[in-house]
Order: sequence, then C-alpha cells, then structure tokens
Amino acid sequence: MQIKLEHVTANYKIGPLLKPRVLDDVSLTLNPGRITAVVGSTGAGKSSLLKVCNGLLIPSEGHVTIGSKEINSKTSKQSLKTIRKHIGMVFQFPESQLFAETVGEDIAFGPLNFGTDQRRAEQLARKALQQVGLDESILSKSPFSLSGGQKRRVAIAGVLASEPEVILLDEPTAGLDPAGRKELLTLLKRWHDEEGKTILFVTHDMESTARFAEDVIVMENGSVVYHDAVRPLFENTRQLKEWQLDLPEARRFQLGFEAQSGIHLPHVCLTEKELMDALIEVGCV
Ligand SMILES: Nc1ncnc2c1ncn2[C@@H]1O[C@H](COP(=O)(O)OP(=O)(O)OP(=O)(O)O)[C@@H](O)[C@H]1O
Ligand SMILES: [Mg+2]
Repeated sequence: MQIKLEHVTANYKIGPLLKPRVLDDVSLTLNPGRITAVVGSTGAGKSSLLKVCNGLLIPSEGHVTIGSKEINSKTSKQSLKTIRKHIGMVFQFPESQLFAETVGEDIAFGPLNFGTDQRRAEQLARKALQQVGLDESILSKSPFSLSGGQKRRVAIAGVLASEPEVILLDEPTAGLDPAGRKELLTLLKRWHDEEGKTILFVTHDMESTARFAEDVIVMENGSVVYHDAVRPLFENTRQLKEWQLDLPEARRFQLGFEAQSGIHLPHVCLTEKELMDALIEVGCV
C-alpha cells in the first residue's frame, strides 16, 4: 500500500491559537515494503508527518493518498476508520495506553474494534504476541503486572494484531537501553521481513537508523530535506552536521581511521561488521 503526500501543509489550531506550517509543502512517496526512519531535530515535524499519514492531522493544503483513498478536509470519519485499519499507529510511550484487564483483551481490542469476530481476534492476538517475542502465558495476566519493556511490546502487539499494511511508530525505542532498542527493532524488522509490510519509524538514534532503516527522511522546520537510501546520508558529513545529526559509531571510527592513516576504505561503513570487512579488504587486519 502506497502513501503519497502531495504539497501537504498542515497546522495545529488550539482555540484561537494557530501553530502554522508544522508541515510546509511536503511532497513524498513512501516506497511500499520498505523500512524508513524519520529523523531531524526536535520540533522539526516528525510526529506531525506520521499523523498526516493516518489521518490524525488533516492537511490544510495539498493531499495525502493512501492506496486508492485520499485524505483531505472532506474525508468522512468512516473512511478514516478504514484507512486506520490499514495504517497502524504506535504512539510514543504506547504502554501508557494499555487499559484492559488482561494482555489478551488489550491486544484483541484493535481487531474487535475493526469488526473481527471474537475467535479470530483471539487468534490474531496470539500471533501478534509471538511477533513481539512474548510468551502466550502472559495472555491472561494484567498488563499492569508486566515490566516496562514487556508493556511496550504488548502495546505494539495491539497494533500488529489488526494486520496493518503499514505501521507508523513514533520513537518506538525511546527510554530503552541500547540492548532493548536493538531487540525491539530486530523484532519489528522480522515482522517486516516475514509479512513484507511497510514501516515508518521516528527516531533520534542514528545507530538504529544505520542498522535498521533502508530509507531515511530528514525533516527540518516542517520540510523534508532528504528522502533517500540510508547509506548516502552518512556519506556527506558536512551536510549531517548542518542538520545536527550524529554519525553511527562505525562510520565515526571509519572517518577517524581514514584521516589518521590516509587510507580510504572502499565504502561507507554503517556497522562493525561492514567496518571489519572493509579493513580486511584493504589489508589492514
Ligand atoms: N498538538 C499540538 N498543538 C500545537 N502545536 C503542536 C502540537 N503538536 C506539535 N506542535 C508543534 O508543531 C511543531 C512540530 O511538532 P512535532 O511534534 O511534529 O515535532 P517532532 O519533530 O516530532 O519533535 P520531537 O522530536 O520533539 O518529538 C512543533 O513546533 C510543535 O511545538
Ligand atoms: Mg515527535
């Protein structure tokens, strides 16, 4: 399912106050079946970009096309519900929205809400729980009895259970330690690989971007300033500095090594493995 934004401008209105152009003439096409990271400094419009992709924020100008449906100010609530069945949204700290008495009920809520019968919803809940790497034995537990990391996974399972074509995640690894981040993103990548679905995730972590994203969207002041593959992004260090983006550890090491040794490695290295392979290739290990 393709998501296409054409000249999308969006504002927030709170009572008489207007926060104008949080998205400013954004045009982009999200490639189906890809993992795309959305990065950029705070207030750049990353969360707002996710919100226009599932109709939580309606463009004031331009339009969003999702599959064959268009979102604009006239789109009905029923159409938005259909769109949201296909475009799952995981908010920041989604565990704060767990509410049911048991994990099973919490996860099955989404499919039931979209009209799935009880038996099928329970099947989907089991499958989603497995997809986030949790054991079926917690289905009957209270979500409030779980650890923070388990709660986060249950909340994500609640979105996966509706079998969306696209999943939008706003800082899914916020507050997790590096091992927790890697584990969660590995599970999401496995879901993506097995189901062939599209993932769009916001992150401030360049390590996660380098390891898990195929494409990257860089946002600045409500505009998209980069939308391309991940590797070329980390090639242009001057541009990265301008956008206030860090380098992944392996790339930082590579640049230091190249500056000190005068040896140029054959390609941009994004992980330790790529770095090691490149060092072997030039005969340095
Ligand atoms: N509900 C809202 N009402 C009014 N203004 C808002 C609202 N949400 C966001 N904004 C404003 O819109 C702009 C873009 O916000 P957005 O949340 O999309 O940024 P972000 O890139 O996700 O930032 P962060 O990295 O801090 O999460 C900011 O200036 C923000 O203050
Ligand atoms: Mg945000």
